[in-house]
Amino acid sequence: MRALTVIPGQANSARLDNMPEPSPGDGSVVVRTLAIGICGTDREIVAGKYGWAPPGESRLVIGHESLGKVESAPIDSGFKPGDLVAGIVRRPDPVPCPACAVGEWDMCRNGLYTERGIKERHGFGSDFFRIEPKFLVKVDSALGAAGVLLEPTSVVAKAWDHIERIGARTASWKARRVLVTGAGPVGLLAAMIGAERGLDLHVLDRAQSGDKPNLVRALGGTYHSDVSELKSIEPDIVLECTGASQVVLDAVACVAPGGIVCLAGVSSGGRKIEIDVGLLNREMVLENNVVFGSVNANRAHYEAAAEALSRASKPWLNHLITRRVAPEDWQSALKRRDDDIKVVIDFTLGRTDGQSH
Ligand code: BGC
Repeated sequence: MRALTVIPGQANSARLDNMPEPSPGDGSVVVRTLAIGICGTDREIVAGKYGWAPPGESRLVIGHESLGKVESAPIDSGFKPGDLVAGIVRRPDPVPCPACAVGEWDMCRNGLYTERGIKERHGFGSDFFRIEPKFLVKVDSALGAAGVLLEPTSVVAKAWDHIERIGARTASWKARRVLVTGAGPVGLLAAMIGAERGLDLHVLDRAQSGDKPNLVRALGGTYHSDVSELKSIEPDIVLECTGASQVVLDAVACVAPGGIVCLAGVSSGGRKIEIDVGLLNREMVLENNVVFGSVNANRAHYEAAAEALSRASKPWLNHLITRRVAPEDWQSALKRRDDDIKVVIDFTLGRTDGQSH
């Protein structure tokens, strides 16, 4: 079968390989891959800056945002052939830590977790993958190809879950306005959930034209491409999805008193900007603000994400997928274009067995 593999830590090592089909040890459910989504993490792995191969192997199959169709499954697994599904990325650490022990692997405390397509486990970027039923999630068949958005939606479903838990620290706090920084797939999906919550939605992105402003307006939100407008917004919640140092700082500075800033974008690091930590501390203390980081998602977040996607407008979701490329053209998928939102590698393209969506 075809599989997209890379030698982690080594740039220019990615290639479309021919591999044997996965072994039963990977799980009892066999899934035929329809598509994998590409995100910044995949680009980092292919650039040799992130990622780990499974123990004893030199190459890693990439792909952690998945959509597939069940090919075969044990009777008692809860899945049947033809089900549309997506795989959960993270597996609990073997110790396990107190978080992993109760299924909160997204909060792993010792860092020994593994992640499919990222950390010590093969991903979903191959014609077939195998998986354990408890790490597989059903996707509404009405979503069709947009079901590949489940994993990035799970990441923002977790962010919203934690924002709401933090908000519940007082009896009186009720958010009215949310600012999302970054209108990439994660930002737009975070905005979609904010709009579902009935909040006054604002989204900031540097793009001045293209689909992003329209996608935000279609959610009933206000689109900003000028950072100077942030001061007047006074959001109760900021969901920071760019990881860009200056935007992170602006996000923390503009939140309203009692506000919550969730950092969900990963910075590339090494970019220095000067900040007055004393002033930052003073503002956060005197305004009871919370700034926290959020990564990954557990099963409950995938399920919440599946429900959010089911409720969302299907044409709106389909608009987020701006390019589909065949596995053979994986290099073009990894090259970022200005008008890209979500690029997917479509395993039904170039398939010789006649199977498609
Ligand atoms: C994935 C997460 C993962 C993180 C760090 C992200 O791209 O969506 O599931 O935990 O990378 O490896």
